[in-house]
Amino acid sequence: MREQLSDEILGKAYDSKLMKRLLTYVKPYKKYVVLAIFLNVFVAGLAPLRPYLTKIAIDTSIANKDYESLTLITALLFISLLFQAIMQYGLTYFTQLMGQKIIYDLRVQIFSHVQKLALKFFDKTPVGRIVTRVTNDVESLNELFSSGIVMVFSDLFIIMWIFVFMFSLSFDLSLITLSVLPALFYATFLFRRKVRESYRDVRFHLARLNSYMQERVGGISIVQLFNKQKRELKKFKGINKDYRDANIKSVFYYAIFYPTVEILSSLAVALIIWYGGGKVFESTMTLGILFAFVQYTEMFFRPIRDLSEKYNIMQTAMASSERIFKLLDDKTIIPDPEKPVKLSEFRGKIEFKNVTFAYNEGETVLKNVSFTIEPGQTVAIVGATGAGKTSIVNLLSRFYEIEQGEILIDGVNIKNMRKEDLRKLICVVLQDVLLFSGTIKGNINLNNSAIGESEIKKAAAMVGAHNFINNLPQKYDEKVQEKGATLSVGQKQLISFARALAYDPKILILDEATASVDTETEILIQQAIKKLLSGRTSIVIAHRLSTIQNSDKIIVMHKGEIKEMGTHQELLAKRGIYFKLYQLQYKDQEITKTA
Ligand code: CTP
Ligand code: MG
Repeated sequence: MREQLSDEILGKAYDSKLMKRLLTYVKPYKKYVVLAIFLNVFVAGLAPLRPYLTKIAIDTSIANKDYESLTLITALLFISLLFQAIMQYGLTYFTQLMGQKIIYDLRVQIFSHVQKLALKFFDKTPVGRIVTRVTNDVESLNELFSSGIVMVFSDLFIIMWIFVFMFSLSFDLSLITLSVLPALFYATFLFRRKVRESYRDVRFHLARLNSYMQERVGGISIVQLFNKQKRELKKFKGINKDYRDANIKSVFYYAIFYPTVEILSSLAVALIIWYGGGKVFESTMTLGILFAFVQYTEMFFRPIRDLSEKYNIMQTAMASSERIFKLLDDKTIIPDPEKPVKLSEFRGKIEFKNVTFAYNEGETVLKNVSFTIEPGQTVAIVGATGAGKTSIVNLLSRFYEIEQGEILIDGVNIKNMRKEDLRKLICVVLQDVLLFSGTIKGNINLNNSAIGESEIKKAAAMVGAHNFINNLPQKYDEKVQEKGATLSVGQKQLISFARALAYDPKILILDEATASVDTETEILIQQAIKKLLSGRTSIVIAHRLSTIQNSDKIIVMHKGEIKEMGTHQELLAKRGIYFKLYQLQYKDQEITKTA
């Protein structure tokens, strides 16, 4: 909750440092800016021209019954309107075009940066927050670029032009129009403050609503299973109500502000008519000037009212850009070495030398872990849940940096290799299989066109996945839902094996899922594993000890330390932890067999 709130805090409305950085994104589109400003000056000048033309029409043409000049002025009025419409179209189009191009670039930058970040970052950052950066935050910058910056110019230009025309027509009347300004500024000031607060509320409650929805929909089966629908609905209604009320409150301020501006502007017009009317009686002012002033006064209030909206856009954009830049500046990146070592020929020896590691400072997860895997060997890691097995694998792929010790592949410290080269060697079949939405085919080759249809089918056949895939209505083109929701656990596992085999890695790591599958699938999986392991250096993390009896070496982990190491027979002979584990599972099997 706190976190979310801190996400929504609005900072300064204008921050020159942020603005400077934002403008670097505009740079490639300078020509649009120049074009927009150029159009702006014209558009802004055209509107204030019209009351002036009206004044001439009344004072000169109508007063002198000059039909010809009246027609001319009417034509000019029409042409100026037409011109304004065309330029307005150009202005809107080009500023929006520029805004869209800029935020496109920004989204690409954010996505590519996020892809580079180390897992440590994602351990701490909820996915929803990253998504918000790419969607909402970027969108509010679009508003700044497309309507904010440029339109602020246009409003300022219009105000300036109106000033010029008004003061050139009548000093007295100009002062009268301006006399309402203090009240207007005060109203705007109040409005801005209130809207800012309510806007923050709206955002906060929306974030709550989103995350609540996301979590409950994600966990819908638990909600239904435990019959929590009514309770969840009640909670949802509460959150929904808060959100609605926040919205109503913000609408309320708008509903008050706009009429207030209207009243003030009407007041100014009334004053002009009253004072100017008197002057017309005295013949110290022409009717045309009075008429023009009424129009100027009405025209004058709109840009001022708009400016206060621009202020909100600016404020939101500043807050958004601050959050975006914070993400872009995040340096949780595991660096590549300056002079990377390339393995000329891969043999496949893996060494851990006194590796000590913690995800969070002070909470050591691995202590002084040392072992060697000879080329082509299969090594198994066993141990209780939380013992640090998956962590060993994470370190080998260099997902996290180690504090002490070194990890060597063929004698080369993995810190001296490029991450890309390192990870090309390794394939990890994860504990919980991750499938992407797409097709079965695409999930096996991960849309790598170098792995063609025949390789995909070969890999699937080798791990024994071909049969079930072939029975699907669309076979290899069958749609896979997000997270592979429509497939069984065993099927997903087989697909992930096929994926590993298709990529033909030098080093294979299997992190066995704890979930059990039926005996038939179990056999399939065991056969698949055998095929996967042959001829490669491999690490198998196993919960079922039956899987690993033939391994060249078994490492027994306990609370982050290696307690025992040896072959199945050696460890049994030792009568230590492994022996106990084995006995437990053996007994278990005996019980199920007799049952
Ligand atoms: N851990 C952590 N941050 C992570 C992952 C793990 O702090 N991003 C901690 C866990 O809380 C655990 C320890 O690291 O105490 C070891 O985790 P792991 O290596 O994943 O344990 P495994 O031996 O793989 O356990 P399991 O058999 O359940 O997979
Ligand atoms: Mg694990």
